[in-house]
Amino acid sequence: MTLPSKMKALVTVEGNKTELHEVPLPTLDKDEILVRTLAVTINPTDWKHVAMISGPGNQVGCDFVGVVEELGPGVQNTSLSKGDRVAGFVHGGYSADRGSFAQYIKTNSGIVATIPDNVDDLVAASLGIGGETAVQALFHRLAIPVPDFSKGPVEVTEDSPEILIWSGSTTVGQWAIQIAHLSGYKVITTASPKNHDLLKQLGADDLYDYRDETIPQKIAAKYPNLSKALDCISEHGTQQLCVKSLGPKGGDVVVLLKPDKEAIELRKGEVNIIHTLVYTALGHPFNYGRATYDEDRVTADSNLMKEWLNGTQGHFYTLFKQGLLRGNRVKEMSGGLEGIPEGFKYLQEGKASAEKLTYRIG
Ligand SMILES: NC(=O)c1ccc[n+]([C@@H]2O[C@H](COP(=O)([O-])OP(=O)(O)OC[C@H]3O[C@@H](n4cnc5c(N)ncnc54)[C@H](OP(=O)(O)O)[C@@H]3O)[C@@H](O)[C@H]2O)c1
Repeated sequence: MTLPSKMKALVTVEGNKTELHEVPLPTLDKDEILVRTLAVTINPTDWKHVAMISGPGNQVGCDFVGVVEELGPGVQNTSLSKGDRVAGFVHGGYSADRGSFAQYIKTNSGIVATIPDNVDDLVAASLGIGGETAVQALFHRLAIPVPDFSKGPVEVTEDSPEILIWSGSTTVGQWAIQIAHLSGYKVITTASPKNHDLLKQLGADDLYDYRDETIPQKIAAKYPNLSKALDCISEHGTQQLCVKSLGPKGGDVVVLLKPDKEAIELRKGEVNIIHTLVYTALGHPFNYGRATYDEDRVTADSNLMKEWLNGTQGHFYTLFKQGLLRGNRVKEMSGGLEGIPEGFKYLQEGKASAEKLTYRIG
């Protein structure tokens, strides 16, 4: 297939909006690949970048699944070939030539997972931010040991360790429940009752409605050894609820937004609040607000994430191939690239409930 010189991409413009523009096809650095986009999903970070962070002239979009069309001159991931179907995410809204809401995407060869034939495009498209944030939180921040998944999942028994995943119906939460369950953890989670059946199917063991204000006391009383939590909301007081839910010895709570001062003070010296930001897994230094993520930091995080990605060599491929991962519950949206701004609005208005908005591109 001859590659075109131009492509359509969603780009930020004045007034915190986006427009579909015709832009040059991205050019590849040594270790990069060019992917023809098959499907994308929207994350809250996409509309947040358009509304508050990016400024004009940046390509938007993170999550994607697509087909490898070209390999850069020094690609290190030897498991990749032209024609492979791969999924992952890029740092959308940050530069003029890297965003997934486009017909073609460039990304580093080691930070994509090859997708086996038993997984459809829409599920694969949900892997990027959701799946990788779950991995970063569970294994790199909470230091859960990674099992040998080639032997299948680790059985959950009465004596298994417990983990609290606050708001399991979020897209990150759905991935975290599945992966923690497959790693042998008893999963305690919160969500609206209408989503409890879905979360049980994903591997949750004990479920609560987060609107019940007595949940932290109930969880702390029932699970005195609970020492690990992932807060998939991390605002509106949820960090404090997680801190209160841990057992008397305390432990670690991973948060996805800025650590909350009151939550830090609540059990200082007993409970650590650990912030995680999935962009560090991409291996490119960047600034985020006032924080700088330098070369050393992003290289270390990217190397850890490669154990899960790296084409057919990572855990995501192994788990997908065994039919053990279901990804997110997806909601297929219409309109392709042109329909995406409507999806931003849907997410921004808080309408998403245990669903990942997904668009076919092409
Ligand atoms: N730091 C990072 O690297 C990182 C990565 C990914 C996401 N994030 C951030 O994490 C947040 C969640 O992202 P997402 O894509 O996973 O979310 P999402 O899927 O869009 O979240 C929707 C879910 O939030 C739940 N929810 C809403 N208000 C809640 C509350 N007060 N308490 C508990 N649950 C509540 C709803 O549950 P029910 O429908 O069951 O009521 C709904 O299913 C966003 O702020 C995002 O920007 C950060």
